[in-house]
Amino acid sequence: MIDFEIAKAWHKIVALHIAFVIEGIEKSSLDPRIVCDDVVCNLGKWIFGSGARYARMPEYADLVEAHIRFHYAASALLEEHATGNAESRSSSLRAASDAVLASIDALAASTIAVPESGKPGTATQTKDAGDQPAWTESMRTGMQLIDEQHEELLNWIGKLNDAPAAEITSQFFVDLISAVKRLETLHFETEEIFMQRAGLPVDQMLEHVQAHKMLLNQLVQVELDAGNGICKTAAEAQRAIKNAVLSHIAKYDMPLDVHVAARR
Ligand SMILES: [Fe+2]
Ligand SMILES: [Fe+2]
Repeated sequence: MIDFEIAKAWHKIVALHIAFVIEGIEKSSLDPRIVCDDVVCNLGKWIFGSGARYARMPEYADLVEAHIRFHYAASALLEEHATGNAESRSSSLRAASDAVLASIDALAASTIAVPESGKPGTATQTKDAGDQPAWTESMRTGMQLIDEQHEELLNWIGKLNDAPAAEITSQFFVDLISAVKRLETLHFETEEIFMQRAGLPVDQMLEHVQAHKMLLNQLVQVELDAGNGICKTAAEAQRAIKNAVLSHIAKYDMPLDVHVAARR
């Protein structure tokens, strides 16, 4: 159910962003008054937009409530963070975030009979399992957050191949590529902050940052191709994106393990 998977990814990105601010990984601030609003984030837009077709289901009301609670918890925590006192309640944010994810799962489970739209040809297409980029232990850098983000990113890149024959212009693919771009952006910010803190030589860091820009440019180019109506299948685009990310991890990210070890 692609709708729900994307809804969860959107939520995870927001939750990750807030956690980054609370933990001091991200230096930009978030306005608690804006974060308090449950309608402005992508999940909120989905809930009250295309997700509203499930509004008659009790699980939908549960999701609305869980989502409001999450935004209130996040807003309160950010206010405390501004006064230098947020650490004690960060677990309450995690719990509120997990409740949102559980609500999305519950809604998804209750809507199996509702026709899904936006994913083309799912009944007739078979997925090439061998083409799935899989996370392996050998890719570990030793920094848990970076490793978790790599695993999540590779999972999402794998989803780009869920409907291999879909055109890159399809809504299914456009939504997914947008999610991958958001994850990549957050992940690169994380890595770049780590590299700064670890004190990597400037030339090494600049080369790595430049490689991140190229990966993001690749996604932007796919979006431009889609906007220009260029015919390409999801499988073709996914293969190129997967290969670029895997070779980046091998060439630039895995060697970071030396710097992780040095900080222990
Ligand atoms: Fe990375
Ligand atoms: Fe990287």
